[in-house]
Amino acid sequence: MGRKVTKIIEVDGLVPSRAKLEEAAAILRDGGLVAFPTETVYGLGACGLNQEAVKGIFEAKGRPATNPLILHVSSVEEARSLSREWPVEAEALAQAFWPGPLTLVVPRIEAIPASVCAGLDTVALRMPAHPVARALIELVGSPLAAPSANRYTRVSPTTAKHVFDGLGGRIDMIVDGGPTTVGLESTIVSVVETPPRILRPGMVDEVELSRVMEVSSATGLIVDDEMPRQAPGLSRRHYSPDATVRLVDSDRFDRFLRKPGQAFIRIGMGQADERTIWLPDDPREYARGLYAALHSFDVDDVDEIIIERPPANGAWTAICDRLRRAATQGAV
Ligand code: TXA
Ligand code: MG
Repeated sequence: MGRKVTKIIEVDGLVPSRAKLEEAAAILRDGGLVAFPTETVYGLGACGLNQEAVKGIFEAKGRPATNPLILHVSSVEEARSLSREWPVEAEALAQAFWPGPLTLVVPRIEAIPASVCAGLDTVALRMPAHPVARALIELVGSPLAAPSANRYTRVSPTTAKHVFDGLGGRIDMIVDGGPTTVGLESTIVSVVETPPRILRPGMVDEVELSRVMEVSSATGLIVDDEMPRQAPGLSRRHYSPDATVRLVDSDRFDRFLRKPGQAFIRIGMGQADERTIWLPDDPREYARGLYAALHSFDVDDVDEIIIERPPANGAWTAICDRLRRAATQGAV
């Protein structure tokens, strides 16, 4: 693919200027690629009903065509219009959690390009809460296909700088609306199964979902970002920084002999240094900071990141899922 000039524009994350966003919307309407913030991570957007534009996403990311994309909408109405059938479960979950970090997999209409859905009969839909994302979708006047704005298998971006480091020169524009607040990708729930099934855990966790309805969780069947849907159940290396990642239990940490080339991510409060980052012991705050910590160790002289293993329950489930993948070497 040819090299592009990636323009960066800054907007207020809470009250974005429509005039500034119009420039981004024009690029998208024209079939271009624009990265923008959502409350979870930055997305790499393209006009979701434009086959050629969608092709650009796969090229820029180096993402296999077997991996379907999420369509981002600005209303529940728009989501309904993209589904062949809008199950009652979809309505109930959308009413409870949209706008927000929840993606629903529903039966799709024919008008959606097959490449968006990787040839599947379903489509993943999300109505994000971020004011920039919402305004942009409205201005473009069409749903936006947007995977996380990182190269294939890499850590999702939570700032515009992370996006530029990975995709600068490969996309047309980055809308910088500041760091994202959730920090982990959305929870994905398939409502084409009964009961609905969690395909990817996220910050809308099982406890919250089950207050609305019975859901099944995805033990052994988690959809991986870069996993061909045709082969569910396989787990792959993903969310990976340059360095290898190792998870170590808290009680083993103090006995750890430090070597050059190592960096550390710990939980709670302690002595920080240029090689040790402490993340809060509250899972939501931990999630917000995790990817920035991983990105900060994407430097030449770090070859191993040692991460203190978090608890595996409640809102930590999604974090543990991402850390396990980050620690996976090669395809397994
Ligand atoms: O928070 C998020 O979800 C972010 C922001 C940008 O919205 N997006 C994101 O997209 O994480 P991506 O492409 O990195 O992850 C989307 C996941 C992939 O694992 C894909 O396999 C799954 O959604 N997916 C998409 N369509 C699907 C479908 N029809 N059935 C099952 N899984 C699907
Ligand atoms: Mg991704």
